[in-house]
Amino acid sequence: MAELKLSESRDLTRIERIGAHSHIRGLGLDSALEARDVSEGMVGQTSARKAAGVILQMIKEGKIAGRAVLLAGQPGTGKTAIAMGMAKSLGLETPFAMLAGSELFSLEMSKTEALMQAFRKAIGVRIKEETEVIEGEVVEVQIDRPAVAGAASKTGKLTLKTTEMETVYDLGAKMIEALGKEKVQSGDVIAIDKASGKITKLGRSFSRSRDYDAMGPHIKFMQCPDGELQKRKEVVHCVTLHEIDVINSRTQGFLALFTGDTGEIRSEVREQIDTKVAEWREEGKAEIVPGVLFIDEVHMLDIECFSFLNRALENEMAPILVVATNRGITTIRGTNYKSPHGIPIDLLDRLLIITTQPYTEDEIRKILDIRCQEEEVEMSEEARHLLTKIGVDASLRYAIHLITASALACQKRKGNIVEMEDINRVYHLFLDVKRSTQYLMEYQSQYMFSEEGDEDDTTAMQS
Ligand SMILES: Nc1ncnc2c1ncn2[C@@H]1O[C@H](COP(=O)(O)OP(=O)(O)O)[C@@H](O)[C@H]1O
Ligand SMILES: [Mg+2]
Repeated sequence: MAELKLSESRDLTRIERIGAHSHIRGLGLDSALEARDVSEGMVGQTSARKAAGVILQMIKEGKIAGRAVLLAGQPGTGKTAIAMGMAKSLGLETPFAMLAGSELFSLEMSKTEALMQAFRKAIGVRIKEETEVIEGEVVEVQIDRPAVAGAASKTGKLTLKTTEMETVYDLGAKMIEALGKEKVQSGDVIAIDKASGKITKLGRSFSRSRDYDAMGPHIKFMQCPDGELQKRKEVVHCVTLHEIDVINSRTQGFLALFTGDTGEIRSEVREQIDTKVAEWREEGKAEIVPGVLFIDEVHMLDIECFSFLNRALENEMAPILVVATNRGITTIRGTNYKSPHGIPIDLLDRLLIITTQPYTEDEIRKILDIRCQEEEVEMSEEARHLLTKIGVDASLRYAIHLITASALACQKRKGNIVEMEDINRVYHLFLDVKRSTQYLMEYQSQYMFSEEGDEDDTTAMQS
């Protein structure tokens, strides 16, 4: 592999709709890493947030790699929320990859391959490259229309200048299209990447500032560049190892069609890439940026996956692994042995454990307030009070679900503010786990596969 390909678009992993955790904007810590009572969408759970913050700090300082953290606690105590908070405060350059334990079993590749890809999504490479650019003010764009319609492709000329020189460039069809797309016209200051031909509009020349009225206020005015038209510029790319893997394995051509979009990546490809990256690091051209890999519901992994994790953490380029579980002592999948959290002791031994605690009534109230804001639902004081009681009695998640439902009920009766009656209505429409279980106990015999009197099954449902 002579040349590794690096560009191509980045995966957009950070886009989120109004999802379960969209109100979380960070960990809500102050500069001394103490958790603020309510901040960045986070409420309470102070010691777990602080612990997460300390780990983040170490990641940012590049001090740790290959460590692992376990978030353990009951359902609905904010484990996933804290992991999302960590992701939000990492900054764009540090990669964050997320995976739910159960996903491993539904992908069209082996479990260990999926884990390997997840690991490499969480390892960033910062690469410095020198590129040649042409930067100048557009004097004129001249495009020759072919005399006969549909005849050979268009040609044209582009005149660029700096304060010291002026040059005319010949244009091919591709450049003409790119100029058209960017709507480049005389007076614009543009940069053309020589290798890729990519055109970037930097702004408009001050000499054209009288056009201001025609252009609107969002245009940036700038000086005509000075010096040579051709310049060398240092650019820094941040990509993940996985992105490099994918881009370089697609060159298998049409065969990639059969292996799916990404498919399994051959280990030779990865080895070559690792060697190349190691070379770049020695030459000072690249740096490794260990990111965070979050595996939610980690008790869903089986013994093979766990031993893969053990090995992968020993790698010099390993990211920080954050795992979460709500299980107590349970069977390790793929074995007959029980262990705390369903995680084998040898992996457990490497984990720093952060526990989350159940919320107080006051905290539940504050989280519900934040969710109402996030979903843009207005709710009366009494309704909030009732919803908080439901949150304490049933579960926080159930109460959060009722926000959306009650807002719809309110809309239906053409109200603007959610009142007690709306909450009441949806509370009776949708059962929470406790009531649903009770109902099942009463009417069990009418369902399929019922095992009346089997206490274990009903308690399992509540977790
Ligand atoms: N401390 C918190 N501050 C704000 N929102 C929270 C907090 N803890 C939990 N939530 C919200 O409550 C819901 C349930 O929490 P979640 O993180 O999914 O729990 P877990 O992963 O522990 O089962 C989510 O919508 C989450 O965003
Ligand atoms: Mg969770």
